[in-house]
Amino acid sequence: GRIDKAYPTVCGHTGPVLDIEWCPHNDDVIASGSEDCAVKVWQIPENGLVVPLMEPVVSLEGHSKRVGVVTWHPTARNVLLSADTGCDNVVLIWNVGTGEELYRLEDQHPDLIYNACWNRNGSLFCTACKDKTVRVIDPRRETVVVAIEKAHEGARPMRAIFVADNKILTTGFSRMSERQIALWDQSNTSDSMIVQELDTSNGVLLPFYDPDTNILYICGKGDSSIRYFELTDESPYIHFLSTFSSKEPQRGMGFMPKRGLDVNKCEIARFYKLHERKCEPIIMTVPRKVSVFKDSL
Ligand SMILES: *[C@@H]1O[C@H](CO)[C@@H](O)[C@H](O)[C@H]1NC(C)=O
Ligand SMILES: *[C@@H]1O[C@H](CO)[C@@H](O)[C@H](O)[C@H]1NC(C)=O
Repeated sequence: GRIDKAYPTVCGHTGPVLDIEWCPHNDDVIASGSEDCAVKVWQIPENGLVVPLMEPVVSLEGHSKRVGVVTWHPTARNVLLSADTGCDNVVLIWNVGTGEELYRLEDQHPDLIYNACWNRNGSLFCTACKDKTVRVIDPRRETVVVAIEKAHEGARPMRAIFVADNKILTTGFSRMSERQIALWDQSNTSDSMIVQELDTSNGVLLPFYDPDTNILYICGKGDSSIRYFELTDESPYIHFLSTFSSKEPQRGMGFMPKRGLDVNKCEIARFYKLHERKCEPIIMTVPRKVSVFKDSL
């Protein structure tokens, strides 16, 4: 809900913050990327903020353009990827512990990077770029191992996420401006495994995936609903389940890490929906007669 205007914030950037992500290895740590070209890592006090937090644990200086993407390595502690979304389109991978650049990936993206996503063990990451290409990159070899050109034909923004070791889910627009989701096999990118048209609307589709339940959640920016699908290994691979609808549109959406859920209440996903002036939790539960831990969930 709405909080007091005087409530302390994390306010050490000198420009607007464009992306944040909780550290998968430490619940009190957040990374942020900003228009001020810096990536900063913050340690939130255990009982929450009581005074504004100005000083980061570390400020990572290496980009010369605004930083629009930050994402933590899923398995290696203190490794963070950041991408600038100006005209340099540089991806940096940092050792946050020492503040050093581990890898600098230049000249791989000719245009704006919309998002980046690690695979499950962090051996590869994929990106969606404004040139309509989805790339799978091996950072250690500093090479693009797979490129899916024209993943979506439309000019509007795309997203790409790993949903399994060899599978990538993309969202984007068709040439006729229909919103689409598509599934790709990394070892055979001549065609998508499937592409589904959802509707015609302008909002970028933000995908969130839970590999434990195989549920894919699709939140359109500016929509007031969340659609969800089950992914399976058999054609047609993407199965519509249902839609959560509300009245007010979402300006953005956050996804709670799985271990933050209340499993004793059969909660399987929690979103944080950004409104114009508040942030609303949306809790997805599987109805059960008694609220206790269910290992089947
Ligand atoms: C990480 O996963 C990939 C499959 O996506 C596999 O080829 C690779 O061997 C794995 N690496 C490690 C270190 O387990
Ligand atoms: C690649 O995928 C396409 C579309 O799913 C399929 O038609 C084609 O047979 C596949 N090619 C190979 C070599 O598996």
